[in-house]
Amino acid sequence: MDSNDLQVSRRGFLKLSAVSATVAASPPLLAKMATADGGRPPVMAQVAMEVNGKPQTLELDTRTTLLDALREHMHLTGTKKGCDHGQCGACTVLVDGRRINSCLTLAVMHQGAKVTTIEGLGTPDKLHPMQAAFVKHDGYQCGYCTPGQICSAVGVLDEIRRDVPSHVTADLGSKAAVGEVELRERMSGNICRCGAYSNIIEAMTEVAGSKA
Ligand code: FES
Ligand code: FES
Repeated sequence: MDSNDLQVSRRGFLKLSAVSATVAASPPLLAKMATADGGRPPVMAQVAMEVNGKPQTLELDTRTTLLDALREHMHLTGTKKGCDHGQCGACTVLVDGRRINSCLTLAVMHQGAKVTTIEGLGTPDKLHPMQAAFVKHDGYQCGYCTPGQICSAVGVLDEIRRDVPSHVTADLGSKAAVGEVELRERMSGNICRCGAYSNIIEAMTEVAGSKA
């Protein structure tokens, strides 16, 4: 392969990427393209949910993940797309109070649900206690994983309050302790490539203590 071939391939690749991005953001265009080449058009559905206390109704391709519905359709970009495969936790949000990887679930499965993203936990003037604790304990560096970490941390403390056991809970008959081992295990699905783990645990411990 000479350098010209390489240039053409790269140009072709960029064009293809641009088309893919446009299609991802535009379900009606997707529908037209699918029918133009004889494929089946996407199945659309009206999805209604409450997001950060506000009712939202969207017309969505039924294959749209909750993560893409939040980011691409509601423009709530605080929730991050890391791996898009359920492996990093960057997309964690609270659905009816329970933490969930929003990249692994379809929006249409949450008809009528109450969804809370990082934008709905607190405001810059009135931070949620977990947000304030992350700031106080330097629970982040680049901040990319932080919205997911904070939503997950809120969900973890709620799980412990509800006596939901984890893999390391020694005695299923007694209350789970808010210890470091328990917190680390429950937060193990939230990856931080900056390595802010110790500070995140300190922040969670403080919030748990203040509520004890
Ligand atoms: Fe959902 Fe990584 S983006 S788990
Ligand atoms: Fe950078 Fe966690 S703060 S990835």
